Amino acid sequence: MTDHIPRDFIDLLLNRVEIVDLIDSRVTLRKKTGSNFFACCPFHNEKNPSFSVSQTKQFYYCFGCGAHGNAIDFLMQYDRLNFPEAIDTLAKQVGMEVPKQAMRNPVKSAQQQTLYELLEQVAKFFQTQIRQHNQANRVVNYLKQRGISGNIAKDFEIGFAPSSWDTLLQAFPEHKQQLFDAGMLIKKDDGGFYDRFRDRIMFPIRDRRGRIIGFGGRIIDQGEPKYLNSPETTIFQKGHELYGLYQTLQAHKQLHRILVVEGYMDVIALFQYDINYAVATLGTATSTSHVERLFRHTSEIIFCFDGDQAGRSAAWRALQITLPLMHDGVQVRFMFLPDGEDPDSLVRKEEKNAFEKQIQDALPIADFFFQTLATQTDISSTDGRARYVKLASDLLKNLPAGIFQQMMLEELARKVRVDVKQLQSPTPPSQPKTQAPSVSRSRVRPPSALRLAITLLIQQPSLAQHIDEPLPDLEINGYALLKKIFELVKERPELTTGALLEYWRGEPEEAHLAKLAHTEHMIPEKGLIQEFQGLIKTFHKSVHEKTIETLLSKAAITGLSNEERLRLSELINTKNQISSLE
Ligand code: UTP
Ligand code: MN
Repeated sequence: MTDHIPRDFIDLLLNRVEIVDLIDSRVTLRKKTGSNFFACCPFHNEKNPSFSVSQTKQFYYCFGCGAHGNAIDFLMQYDRLNFPEAIDTLAKQVGMEVPKQAMRNPVKSAQQQTLYELLEQVAKFFQTQIRQHNQANRVVNYLKQRGISGNIAKDFEIGFAPSSWDTLLQAFPEHKQQLFDAGMLIKKDDGGFYDRFRDRIMFPIRDRRGRIIGFGGRIIDQGEPKYLNSPETTIFQKGHELYGLYQTLQAHKQLHRILVVEGYMDVIALFQYDINYAVATLGTATSTSHVERLFRHTSEIIFCFDGDQAGRSAAWRALQITLPLMHDGVQVRFMFLPDGEDPDSLVRKEEKNAFEKQIQDALPIADFFFQTLATQTDISSTDGRARYVKLASDLLKNLPAGIFQQMMLEELARKVRVDVKQLQSPTPPSQPKTQAPSVSRSRVRPPSALRLAITLLIQQPSLAQHIDEPLPDLEINGYALLKKIFELVKERPELTTGALLEYWRGEPEEAHLAKLAHTEHMIPEKGLIQEFQGLIKTFHKSVHEKTIETLLSKAAITGLSNEERLRLSELINTKNQISSLE
C-alpha cells in the first residue's frame, strides 16, 4: 500500500506533523497528565473521556473502543481518507510536497483524469437521452412503472443508452480509444468498435470520491443479460467498489450504519424511501475489500439477503469474509427478507418505518453464527458437540483478539457446557521439549522479557541509544521483531512511537505492536534505561549459556577441536565475570 511513497518522506512528514495540533483542530483536547491529552472519543459514543493523545509518542489510543494510531491513521479514520489522501493532506498542512515519483505514472494519471471526465460527459449524454430520444417515452414509462420518482432518477443520474450500435461513437467521435479504455465500446474483429450498452437503462457508478468509474445497464423489459456492468478497467475494479457508497457518504456527516443489498434498484428504492445508507456490490460477492472499505465509514454493517437457501449461503460467505475484520467496536448484523421479496419490493410495500423496524430486528452476527452451526450439527450428542466445537473454533480463530472474540468463545463454551479455558488454548502441539532446553532452563524467561523489551522500545525508541553493542542472535519466537525495531531506531533515532509503527502498516505484526505501544508497563521513568539495558543483557546471557551448553555436550560426546576448546573457556570466563558483577 505504501510502496510508492518513499519511506524517508513518510518519516520526515510524521516528524514535522504535531499530532496534538492535528487532532485538536478536529476534536477539542484537554491537557491531563504529563504529555498526554484527553477527549471524548470521536470514534465511539461516550460521556467520559477515554481517548488519549500522547505528544511524546505521537500516537493516540482510546481505552474505550481501542481506536489507535499515528497522525496518518487519525486522518484515515476521522476524515475517512485513504492512505495517499492522508499523506497528501498532512503534507499540505506542513508545506511539504509529496515527491513526484510517489505519484503514479503521470502519463497514466493524466489519461485517467480524462477517462473520468469523459465518463462524466457520457453520463450526461445518457441522461439527456431519457428526455430527447424517440424511445424516451418507453423508458420513462418503464421507470414510472417501477415506481422511480423523477427526483430520485435525477439524484442517481439515471440515463438511457439507445438501441443502435454506434450511439456513443457518433456522440464522441474523437474519443474512440478512450471510450474503449473505459469499457464503453467493444472491439470488432476488423478493428472497428461498437457500443457495449444498447437499449438499456444506465446507472452511473461513482467511486467514494464521486468520480464516475463505470456503468451498470439494465435491459428494458425482457432480455439477456438482465444487467450488464462495465468491465474491469484501469479506473474500475468491481471487487472494491460499492454502488451507492458515494451517495450514502454525501447524505451523512457521520454514519451509524450501512445496509448492504444486492442490486442497483434496491439501493435506489431505499434512497427514495429515505433509507439513504444503502450500498450494493456490483454483481460480485462481498469481498474483504468491500467490508474493509465499509468499516472505514461506519461501525455497523447490516447485510441484507434473501431468506431462501441461496440467500443464507451467501450470508454465510459474507460472515466468513467479515470475521477477521471484527475489531472491537464494530457490529455486523444479518437481515433476511421474506420469500420473493427484495429490498426494492419490500420498501415500496412497507415504507420507511416498517422497513427500518426490520433493520432493527436484524440478527447479530453472533446469533447468525451459532444458529447456522446448530443446523449443521446436533449438539445433543457428544459427537455432535465435538464437531460443533471444532467447526466453531476453527472459525473463531479468525477473529482478531479482543472482547468480541472472548465473548464468542464464552458463548461457545456455554452452549456446549465446557470450560472456556479449554477452548481458548487449543494448545497446538508445542515445540518438542528437547529443542531448546538451555533457553528454558536459563534464568531468562524469554517471552516476558522479550515482550517487555519490545514494549519499552516501542514506547520510548530513544532507549536504543543506550545500548552500544548490536543485539545478539537468538532463536526465540518474536525476537526478530525486537531486533528489527532496534536496528531501525538505531539508524533513525528521530522516530517516535507513531512513526515507528508506520513501518508495520498492513503487516501481520501491526496490531500486536500497536497494543504494546499503549500497554502500561509500570516501570518508573527513572529506571527505564537500566531496565532496558538489563533486558538486553539477559538476551546476551542466554545466547552465551546456550553456546556453552552446546559446546559442553559436544565435548562429552565427540570431543572439541582446539579452537572450540578455547572458545568454551572464553565463554565460561565471561560468564563468570558477568555473574560477579551482579
Ligand atoms: P437481481 O437479478 O436480483 O435483480 O440482481 P434486481 O436487483 O432485483 O433487479 P430488478 O429489480 O429485476 O431490476 C441483483 C444484482 O446482481 C447483478 C446486478 O448488480 C444486480 O443489481 N446482476 C444481476 C448482474 O450483474 N447481471 C445480471 O444479469 C443480473
Ligand atoms: Mn428487484
